[in-house]
Amino acid sequence: MNDAERAALAEQYADADNLDARIRLHERYDTADRDWWRWVFDHYEGLPDGADLLEVGCGTGYLWRDNADRIPDGWGLLLTDFSAGMADDARATLAEAGVDAAVGVAAAESLPLPDDSVDAVVANHMLYHVDRDAALPELHRVLRPGGRLFATTNSEANMLELRELLRAATTYEPASVEEFSLEGGADELGRHFAEVRRSERGSALHVPDLEPLVAYAASLPGVTDEQVAEFGALADDRLADGPLEIRKSMGLFIARTR
Ligand SMILES: C[S@@+](CC[C@H](N)C(=O)[O-])C[C@H]1O[C@@H](n2cnc3c(N)ncnc32)[C@H](O)[C@@H]1O
Repeated sequence: MNDAERAALAEQYADADNLDARIRLHERYDTADRDWWRWVFDHYEGLPDGADLLEVGCGTGYLWRDNADRIPDGWGLLLTDFSAGMADDARATLAEAGVDAAVGVAAAESLPLPDDSVDAVVANHMLYHVDRDAALPELHRVLRPGGRLFATTNSEANMLELRELLRAATTYEPASVEEFSLEGGADELGRHFAEVRRSERGSALHVPDLEPLVAYAASLPGVTDEQVAEFGALADDRLADGPLEIRKSMGLFIARTR
């Protein structure tokens, strides 16, 4: 990643506003029976009593807010993000939800933790932003023997209907497709971890409203106001034919230390 790309990433995630605009589209219109954050947490089984968990690139902290009722007593939670503004927003979210967790600022490539210090690392929708040649050995380093990495990402087919509308007005392509997708991620994790397993969750968005689609487009990195306006006009035309159906495909890897 060059300096300009690094600056754009820092600007995109200066605080939770952009990410929140995208999460709102999913929260309002996802037709799945099981909430995404509940589905992700369903996979955190078999951890020891009193487990220590580290989250990298924690974003808003909604994973823990939306599972506050089932976080076992005795788990030690440390949430980190490389953005100080994002960490502040996550801290406020967790305080409001009554979740007991430490929140700090750290890059996944260089963690301020000793070797063998946590039982699980959570890395949700963030490995496509990092220098994985540095970050994956670093995540492995802080895990105890037998510890597990839980990492979510998108399939290359995720939200194609929305991406086609966006392509007509912008040059935006999701980083997950080229960098770390549900299709390509297993091989890459397998070079650093053992026993990589994959779990996929398909669902759909059923979107009858223009405003949240426009807010989604406006939240994306590198998208200009003119492009947002053009996208809005195209989306408005499309919605005249009925609600936009957007197929989703996301999932989670579980990888164990060697
Ligand atoms: C797409 S958001 C995902 C947030 C959250 N994990 C989720 O699933 O909603 C990516 C997050 O990774 C963070 N991030 C990006 N690069 C990072 C890095 N090198 N180290 C730590 N965090 C990073 C961003 O600040 C942002 O909060």
